[in-house]
Amino acid sequence: MGIKTVIGMAGLGIAGGVAFILSGAFNVSATDRHWDITTSLLELVRERSVEVRSKDIQDPPLGDLQMVSNGAKNYAAMCAQCHLAPGMEPTELNQGLYPQPPVFHQQREKHDKYDKHDPAETFWAIKHGFKMTGMPAWGEFHTDEQLWELVAFLDVVEGMRPEYYQGLVGEGGHTHVQNDQDAVPHIDSHN
Ligand code: HEC
Repeated sequence: MGIKTVIGMAGLGIAGGVAFILSGAFNVSATDRHWDITTSLLELVRERSVEVRSKDIQDPPLGDLQMVSNGAKNYAAMCAQCHLAPGMEPTELNQGLYPQPPVFHQQREKHDKYDKHDPAETFWAIKHGFKMTGMPAWGEFHTDEQLWELVAFLDVVEGMRPEYYQGLVGEGGHTHVQNDQDAVPHIDSHN
């Protein structure tokens, strides 16, 4: 194939692309789902981008109940309207956004396009957010310490009982860890 043919074909390709864009044929509506191949590509881009950018982040110990409880309170105020929380009904934001915000307490691994249980990656995602998804960059207005508290909460929220979540979030709720069978800490709330 001659160089002129190659340039000619590339030119036609670009012209076709421009014509497609200008024609308005692409549907930007959030109710028009991507093709599977587009979704897979976008997910791969996000996965690699987060992996590479978070690889040098050192995660602190996350098991502290005070951290989890601080994280839960901020989560309830800033995240639950999109990501939902134990015992909560779906919201308009959760259902209307596309891509849809993952519901961490029930189906974390279904959204596991990159390793969600890697705290450094979760921290990076919360700090920087994601372009063109609605996921905000929380690092703009919060300290790293507050962001790690959110990571500590997300680390234990999967399968959490609604009463336990309420205990963490609710004022005056008094929480303590008990080694009961399902290993989920037990709450005493004195309302
Ligand atoms: C306005 C809605 C909205 C709010 C508020 C929001 N998020 Fe998100 N979040 C999203 C969306 C949408 C995605 C999915 C992005 C995607 O699929 O690429 C997302 C993705 C994430 C991810 C990556 C998970 C994954 O599966 O890749 C984490 C972690 C996360 N959010 C944490 C939080 C935390 C913590 C807060 C509160 C401080 C929060 N989000 C608030 C919309 C929101």
